[in-house]
Amino acid sequence: MKHNQLKPFPADFLWGGSTSAYQIEGAWNEDGKGPSVIDMAKGPEGTTDFKVASDHYHHYKEDIALLAEMGFKAYRFSIAWTRIYPNGAGELNQKGIEFYDNLINEIESQGIEPIVTMYHFDLPYALEQKGGWSNRETIDAFEVYAKTLFENFGDRVKYWLTINEQNMMILHGDAIGTVNPNLENPKKDLYQQNHHMLLAQAKAMSLCHQMLPSAKIGPAPNIVSIYPDSSNPEDIMAAQSYMAIRNWLYLDIAVFGRYNTTAWNFLEEKGYTPTILDGDMEVLQSGKPDFIAFNYYTSQTVGASKEDGTDVNHTGDQHITIGEPGIYKGVTNANLEKNEFGWEIDPIGFRNTLREIYDRYNLPLIVTENGLGAFDKLEEGDVVNDSYRIEFLRKHIEQMQLALTDGVEVFGFCPWSAIDLISTHQGCSKRYGFIFVNRGEFDLKDLRRIRKNSFYWYKELIATGGKSLN
Ligand code: BG6
Repeated sequence: MKHNQLKPFPADFLWGGSTSAYQIEGAWNEDGKGPSVIDMAKGPEGTTDFKVASDHYHHYKEDIALLAEMGFKAYRFSIAWTRIYPNGAGELNQKGIEFYDNLINEIESQGIEPIVTMYHFDLPYALEQKGGWSNRETIDAFEVYAKTLFENFGDRVKYWLTINEQNMMILHGDAIGTVNPNLENPKKDLYQQNHHMLLAQAKAMSLCHQMLPSAKIGPAPNIVSIYPDSSNPEDIMAAQSYMAIRNWLYLDIAVFGRYNTTAWNFLEEKGYTPTILDGDMEVLQSGKPDFIAFNYYTSQTVGASKEDGTDVNHTGDQHITIGEPGIYKGVTNANLEKNEFGWEIDPIGFRNTLREIYDRYNLPLIVTENGLGAFDKLEEGDVVNDSYRIEFLRKHIEQMQLALTDGVEVFGFCPWSAIDLISTHQGCSKRYGFIFVNRGEFDLKDLRRIRKNSFYWYKELIATGGKSLN
């Protein structure tokens, strides 16, 4: 759809950036922090672990000052559950409360709106040992943890995100570490975990509304447009099915309190349906979000399943496979360019995604991740010329403005990542930030913070409320 005139970004638009605790903080066992599943996992060969990361735990003041210098209106970060409850439940760690108290105060004192993710992949290891999300006790532990966060930080935090990319933890449990390969039916177990996470999320949303009537809370899945490989009706049906299984399953429950019909049918067909106890559906119906946060990196394309052993494909990234025999087959989209890591780049898909989510749920949207991972180079004179990142973000923000002009209510943009941090699987050499952190995979160097060219570009963009785009 063409527009004669673009709508401007609202004056109170939340321009910002995102990080997550385990990828940025370091200090993995300091001040009483307990181990998370991430701390106990062995990463891919040749890449660093998350023990020091960007050492934000010790650099947070300097880091927040840099975000303020860029003009950030909002900063999305996550709280490490194991800093608050080292064993996931039970004894509270006052030092953990203190750290986030100081961090939030620092963010606020710089006039930045804190947006808190309550759980970003780093489940307490002690809970994992008792079955993790397969065990319903984890739902109770999450509820207590949520209550503690609301009690301690609710006076300053107005925006809460429940669970980061729950759909990725379920769909790619082999990559993110939620899958238990020793079980007879690991996928059925994943959908049981999913059901429990959905209950935990609904409980947290209800609790937030009871305890903090003026705060807002929402889920933060990874939602992307799904294209059919061709206009063949079989391909179109495959795309619809994948859309339901990948996207709507998660958001329909969060917003409408019910399982999506196509997705439920898929679970039945495959024998993955979770056990639903009396009262569960009431819990799911009672917790409602105020907005939808979502992460978008790339669209995905699927065709009809061939059931010939070729349905499950690696689509670019080494650790993510797409395909479900009998339902859809992951394919490459020949219309799209790829980044250095094989991820397809699709800014128009971003506009499509914003429109699809808004049309379906009619709730305000905030983009909590979008960005380009690249092997940035530090040049002489502390220069990082990341023009490719500027280009990527420019194209996506242009499409966001078009979506806004289409009528989509989007109130913030927090790309990944505010500062360099450790990638989920590709170490610290795969960088996303506006700020370079001077370290190598195994050589910590001086961890100096260096403004990249994208830092100055984003600063100008924020200062002009997006006008410098045009
Ligand atoms: C999102 C996650 O899936 O993508 C982040 O929420 C992650 O934690 C980001 O870092 C980019 O992925 P990667 O694998 O390049 O780090």
